[in-house]
Amino acid sequence: MSQAALDTADNITAIIGGTGLTELKGLTLLDDIQVNTPFGPTSAPIKRGILDGHQVLFLARHGHPHAIPPHMVNYRANIWALKQLGVTAILAVNAVGGIHDLMGPAHITIPDQIVDYTYGREHTFYDGRQTGVEHIDFTYPYSEKLRAALLESAIALDVPHSDFGVYACTQGPRLETAAEIVRLERDGCDIVGMTGMPEAVLAAELGIDYACIALIVNWAAGKTEEIITMDDIQAAIDTGMGRVISILEHTLTR
Ligand code: HPA
Repeated sequence: MSQAALDTADNITAIIGGTGLTELKGLTLLDDIQVNTPFGPTSAPIKRGILDGHQVLFLARHGHPHAIPPHMVNYRANIWALKQLGVTAILAVNAVGGIHDLMGPAHITIPDQIVDYTYGREHTFYDGRQTGVEHIDFTYPYSEKLRAALLESAIALDVPHSDFGVYACTQGPRLETAAEIVRLERDGCDIVGMTGMPEAVLAAELGIDYACIALIVNWAAGKTEEIITMDDIQAAIDTGMGRVISILEHTLTR
C-alpha cells in the first residue's frame, strides 16, 4: 500500500500506544488535542504531530503517564474522539503474553483473529440509546490492508516477526492462572492481552480500519517454570519496543 493511502488530508492514521509506548519520540508535536465526547474524556490528550512529513495522531491508551488499567480504559471515548478527528486507520500497539511456541519475549506478531474473554466493559456504540441497535460483521476483526502494510515494513526492516495469531483478550488487571492459559491454548489462542477488546470492535463499528502490532513481553502463565515478573516484562519491552516503533514509522512514512 502506498503512503498516499495512509496519509491524505482526509485519511489520517492514528497510533494507539499501550504498555511501554506512552509517547512517540520521533513525532514533531504540533498540538495536544482534547476532544469532548458523549462518553467522557479520552485516556489522554491526543497528540497531533508530524513524522517524516506525514501527519500522525498518537493516543496513550493507559494515559501519560501510564495510570489507567485495561478494564478502566474509556475505549468508547478514545475511538469516538479519533473518528471526530478524521482518523480512518488505527495502528494499535499491544503488549501481550505468548502462548504459541514461536511467541516468546520480545517477539513481534501481527495477529489476525481475536477471542474476547472480557466482561463488564462498555463495548459497543450500538447500545440502543443514541445510536440504536446494529449487528456489525466482525468475521475478520483486523484490516487486511493495514496488516499487510505492517508486515511489509517488518520484512523491509528485517525484523523477526510472525504474520498470524489469535489474540485472547482477558479482563485483567491480574495475569492468568496456568489453567486459564491451558484453556486459551485449547481455544486456539496464540497470544494473550487485556486491551485488544473492545477497542477493535469499536473501531469497526465506526468504520475505521484497525490493525494490531503485538509485542510479546512474557511467556504466558505456566508456559515456563518461572513466575512472571515485571522486571522480565520490562526487559522484553526494552528489547522489542524499538523494533515496534521502527515498523510503525516505516509503515507511516514510506
Ligand atoms: N496476560 C495478559 N495480558 C498481558 C500479558 C499476559 O501474560 N502480558 C502482557 N499483557
